[in-house]
Amino acid sequence: MAATKWLPGAAGARALDAQDELADFRREFELPRERGRTLTYLCGHSLGLLPRAARRAVNTEIDRWAALGVDGHFADARPPRGRPRPSREPHGGWLDYHAQFAAPLAELVGAYRDEVVAMNTLTVNLHLMLATFFRPTKDRYKILIERDAFSSDRYAIESQLKWHGLDPSTALLELGARPGGFDLDRERYEALLAQEGERVALVMLPGVQYLSGERLDLAEYAATARRYGCAIGFDLAHAIGNVPIALHDSGADFAVWCSYKYLNAGPGAVGGCFVHRRHGEARELPRLAGWWGHDRARRFLMEPQHSPLRGAEGWQLSNPPILSLAPLAASLALFSAAGMKRLRRKSVALTRYLQWQLERELAGRVRILTPADPARRGCHLAVQFQPAPRNARAFAARLRTAGIVADWRRPNVLRLAPVPLYNRFRDVYAAVQAVRRTLDA
Ligand SMILES: Cc1ncc(COP(=O)(O)O)c(C=O)c1O
Repeated sequence: MAATKWLPGAAGARALDAQDELADFRREFELPRERGRTLTYLCGHSLGLLPRAARRAVNTEIDRWAALGVDGHFADARPPRGRPRPSREPHGGWLDYHAQFAAPLAELVGAYRDEVVAMNTLTVNLHLMLATFFRPTKDRYKILIERDAFSSDRYAIESQLKWHGLDPSTALLELGARPGGFDLDRERYEALLAQEGERVALVMLPGVQYLSGERLDLAEYAATARRYGCAIGFDLAHAIGNVPIALHDSGADFAVWCSYKYLNAGPGAVGGCFVHRRHGEARELPRLAGWWGHDRARRFLMEPQHSPLRGAEGWQLSNPPILSLAPLAASLALFSAAGMKRLRRKSVALTRYLQWQLERELAGRVRILTPADPARRGCHLAVQFQPAPRNARAFAARLRTAGIVADWRRPNVLRLAPVPLYNRFRDVYAAVQAVRRTLDA
């Protein structure tokens, strides 16, 4: 959709919606409402919306629990005579419930099925990965992260350094943004590793930066890290379900993500983990272990010796929280039906349209911090206003009163995320109109 073909005004947005081949997917979601109107939700980068099927998926597991108790773990379980069957759908039982996520997750992150697993939450997975992939030695003990990393990643990494008896003031290297810009300084990255690479044990970077919305070229960053013998991991919280990802081919050692943003699996949902195949076979790799990562056939033998499963599954600790996994199953089915290619095509158009509307309606008053090249961003745009609203909190509250759900982050950044599964061009149009009116008020 070329910008030159776009018509201004609400009619232009409606015309774009009329051409949207994915428009029907919006009906698959429960949309937040307030005072009798549907809110304009542009906050999927923070918490995705509830797929209608997720409610049913959770209820299926609740019914199964009620009807079967402990027998619900097994595929062929039947309720006692006279009790209703929990569901007509075939069910593999809870013992292997997590296994159904391997195929759709592998598809989303560009990996082999044995390289991914749905488990825990993002920061927990990061610690598990660091336990394996951050093995400091006397000569190679530093970690390189971005200066503006999401707080939890920084806390995890600093605490790991301290856990190993290292001092973050000497063992933590930070990579900032390009001077005068908001995107990561690629040249500085190369220079830092050329200078310090032999002392760097691990590089940890985002797939899409949580604030600026910059999408990194994973293969390029990973190739540089590996050239200097450093392990590399990615935080894909803002990338999974948002942009195409080719993790296996990138050569990254590991990646972690959450499922409550673009994957719409609900607050605090079960996240995921990628471990490259070259490590998945290396069962002797040190790791923090638990029984769910133990050889499945021998799990209940209660042997003292831990024998890890092949692949990413071998990093599992506990039996998974089924009620938190069920919404993910419902949501991933929507991704399979829509297809990442079509979603990405719509996403690029929606975000381009958002940029066009912002620059048109707020010419000279808006600064877009996210790269302009669609290949270098996902769906969210981070914007600042000039002059900045005197009271950012009050500005955000007025936008919310106008029915727009977005979010503010320091320093004075508004993040707006049109999500292709449930947002319309009309939502983008309404949001920009509301921003303009609120700034003018
Ligand atoms: C980029 C990024 N990393 C890490 C986290 C923390 O995730 P969790 O609370 O699942 O550990 C978040 C949460 O929003 C995030 O956006």
